Amino acid sequence: MSDSFLPDASTLKPLIAYRRFLVTGATSGIGFAVTKALVERGASVVAVGRRLELLAELEASHRGRLELLRACLTDAGDVRFIVPRALEHGPLDGFVSAAGIAHHEPLGAISERTFREQFEVNTFAPMHLGADLVAKLEPRGAMVFIASTLAHRPTATSYVYSASKAALLSAVKSLAIAGAPRGIRVNALSPGVVDTPMTRSARLGEATERDVDERLKQLESLHPLGRLGTAHDVAEATMQLLVAPWTTGAELVIDGGLSLA
Ligand SMILES: NC(=O)c1ccc[n+]([C@@H]2O[C@H](COP(=O)([O-])OP(=O)(O)OC[C@H]3O[C@@H](n4cnc5c(N)ncnc54)[C@H](OP(=O)(O)O)[C@@H]3O)[C@@H](O)[C@H]2O)c1
Repeated sequence: MSDSFLPDASTLKPLIAYRRFLVTGATSGIGFAVTKALVERGASVVAVGRRLELLAELEASHRGRLELLRACLTDAGDVRFIVPRALEHGPLDGFVSAAGIAHHEPLGAISERTFREQFEVNTFAPMHLGADLVAKLEPRGAMVFIASTLAHRPTATSYVYSASKAALLSAVKSLAIAGAPRGIRVNALSPGVVDTPMTRSARLGEATERDVDERLKQLESLHPLGRLGTAHDVAEATMQLLVAPWTTGAELVIDGGLSLA
């Protein structure tokens, strides 16, 4: 099927080019696709992650427009350090919070470590960064927080993950109100099942890669649009939200129709 109704990279270029963005989770999956979409449109990105070596190729092909910032979002000291460090080399026009961690565990088998890790990465760090940036982004800047449809439709094994994303959705609304006087727009984007390393590793467990492919095929059939999302799908929707001039405090659900099924 043709993607002819989708805007191509050039359509949004003038609104993104020459701007500077902070992106967490830039090393993998959705955050990587967002980082790539931004630099391909001529923006600069301060890319946050632990495995910065995964950005070597993108950095080489967009010399000077990708700054790498190593930080672990479970470390409060690292989190405090991110915005001041990012601002050392120039102003920031936007923020995309894409880092996340999911542990699918049955109730009764949830460890204190995974409980804390999911809230630290999915909720506390984005909330701290958002609170810092609402005062420090350039006027009329924009933030997009990647949440999840699991915030609305939890499963028994997504107990902590779903709650961490639901809390994030509430925080986005507070930030939108706080940012409005300076024209800063703050929105959430909730994807359904996207084929990324997170989705594969959550289903890997004892299974082989082949079993995972099988399971993902079954999941595809639950989507009215007949396929899982790609990181590219989510990155393109993020670009739209970043430039939407009169949208704030909103949540864009992008799930191939899964929530309707
Ligand atoms: N995949 C899906 O189906 C799906 C659906 C709905 C929502 N989401 C959300 O979309 C976002 C991106 O997920 P993804 O599927 O692209 O996952 P992914 O490929 O596993 O990427 C996760 C990213 O989070 C970063 N991260 C995790 N723990 C971190 C920590 N302690 N410190 C710093 N960075 C950390 C990782 O960077 P490093 O390892 O380099 O630190 C990596 O870049 C997440 O917020 C996720 O909850 C995903």
